[in-house]
Amino acid sequence: MRMLIQLNIRTMKKIFLLLWMIGCSWSAFAQSNLISNTGARKALDLNGKWQYIVDPYETGFYDYRYKELKETNGDAYWNTDIQANRTEKKEHGYVDKYSLNVPGDWNHQQPEFTFYEGTVWYKKSFDMVKTAGPVKYYLYFGAVNYRADVYLNGKKLGMHKGGFTPFNFEVPSALLKEKGNFLVVKVDNKRYAEEIPTLNTDWWNYGGITREVKLLEVPDTFIQNFVLQLKKNTTGKAPEKSPEAEGWVQLNQPAAAGEMITVEIPELKYKKEIAATGDKTALQLKLPKLQFWSVENPKLYQVIVRTKNDRIQDKIGFRIIEAHGTQVLLNGKPLFMRGVSIHGEIPQEVRRAYSHEDAAQLLSQARELGCNMVRLAHYPHDEKITRLADSLGVLVWSEIPVYWTIDFKSKEVLEKAKGQLEEMIMRDHNRASVIIWSVGNETPVSPARTDFMHHLLDKARELDNTRMVSAALEVNYSALNDKNVIDDPLGEFVDLVAFNEYLGWYGGLPDKCRTTSWDTPYNKPLFISETGGDAKGGFHADSLTRFSEEYQEWYYKEQIAMFKRMPPKFVGISPWVLADFRSPRRNNPYYQEGWNRKGFYDDKGNKKKAFYVMKAYYDEMKKKKGL
Ligand code: GCU
Repeated sequence: MRMLIQLNIRTMKKIFLLLWMIGCSWSAFAQSNLISNTGARKALDLNGKWQYIVDPYETGFYDYRYKELKETNGDAYWNTDIQANRTEKKEHGYVDKYSLNVPGDWNHQQPEFTFYEGTVWYKKSFDMVKTAGPVKYYLYFGAVNYRADVYLNGKKLGMHKGGFTPFNFEVPSALLKEKGNFLVVKVDNKRYAEEIPTLNTDWWNYGGITREVKLLEVPDTFIQNFVLQLKKNTTGKAPEKSPEAEGWVQLNQPAAAGEMITVEIPELKYKKEIAATGDKTALQLKLPKLQFWSVENPKLYQVIVRTKNDRIQDKIGFRIIEAHGTQVLLNGKPLFMRGVSIHGEIPQEVRRAYSHEDAAQLLSQARELGCNMVRLAHYPHDEKITRLADSLGVLVWSEIPVYWTIDFKSKEVLEKAKGQLEEMIMRDHNRASVIIWSVGNETPVSPARTDFMHHLLDKARELDNTRMVSAALEVNYSALNDKNVIDDPLGEFVDLVAFNEYLGWYGGLPDKCRTTSWDTPYNKPLFISETGGDAKGGFHADSLTRFSEEYQEWYYKEQIAMFKRMPPKFVGISPWVLADFRSPRRNNPYYQEGWNRKGFYDDKGNKKKAFYVMKAYYDEMKKKKGL
């Protein structure tokens, strides 16, 4: 009898796994809704050393006829590499000799990977203690560039594309083992015309598992994501002392009947119970008197959301940001953005940024320049930098890599862009520092492009209407004359009209600024999202010599004089760029050698002469405009 029961349990488990696998094979590529705020959840950290196989021919994925290998095929690199017996032919394997750190791009970890674009198989073995009872497990990735195919114990969990946003896959508890779990991620960073970004970028295509990996354990019904922000304000007036907040709480599945959701802000002695509705419950809350989050007072409150079986907390700043006429108002006060554009890179180590220390370095360099704002270009950066910006009081422009010549006519490409936009917003929608969602950069004007970008702007507003939406519009240098008008048709649909201008670098000499003015027909705030020129750190010459620090210094002196003549709707700048960064497009053998040298800091972290010109201007603006 007992044997029979055991047999039944084992068979039941097999049947369950089978049913789950059928479900998975149907939706192998379906990514479960993004789980947010993972730093506050129970998790097994899977960072550290991962073994790898570099596989440019994708031998671990296709057979010699280039047909995808069957799941159970022993030659597949997601299957165990243990030789069953000495007669078995095994031509792949994972050993410590070939290991890479995770998180981290592969390019800076071994010289042979510097230029590598292709497939690398990552493998991590791990043990775990499974919790009895109704819990769920999810594998969470902070980011993998570009395509990730994820397998556990020989089973495919899913596939994700997009190099700069998080994703997670559910792991059926039955698939997990206490000992010797075999986690494999096939990472492919090859570039394709129909992807986002597309073939051509002015940044290094760092590949790999570039951000953290963890195994999340959550209750059977859990709080997947929640957002609580102050209600959008269109009055242009300072918000009331006890403002209205709105948002929602997303559960992974419909709530049980009678389930209640509690929102608590202990410091404000605020607690509210709301009846859960299905899997998504709206929040409309009247908050008590509170301190508004701002640059000079980045006040964060602990917000706790509870259900019967789950509890999640986050640190949230409450502020109101709005484009009002031609002004940008932060908590009702006019804002001038003293910004700088930043790449997610640590130049002195020639690698992708991923740690808290990396975020601290980049933000402290920006603050030293006198900034109150940063443009995180051209892709969502690690969550650590937006969280740090929250606590430091630095405003953030966050952007998806719809960059240059994307295939705007393709519906699939639009869906990919929308996917990345949703992942970006679902991760950071509680970050007070993030004030602008940007849907792209320097996309060439055409009806198909404007339509494509318009869809993205609408999607961004649908997902979050409490922030400004924008895009870096391009200036057509051939049409440049003294009076330049930013009349890109996309300007009609953005909240902030932002444009990149390189007058004195890509157009003429810096003194061209003296006779040049900029304006836009749109009754909206105007922002310069990029301007800059290259200078090789330590190369000194007369100011007419390009790539010298003196030329770059002159460039900014002329630009700043021009900024001072901008129309009143001019609300700020984020010059290009905080620090020199790697680019495969920059090959001047004397001054660039694979680096874009437009940084205020060189690749060693040294300040260039232009740094002091820009800082002086920002210090002056801070005195004049405050904040
Ligand atoms: C462009 C682009 C940047 C690029 C910069 C440059 O405007 O947006 O990604 O690096 O200009 O040319 O240096």
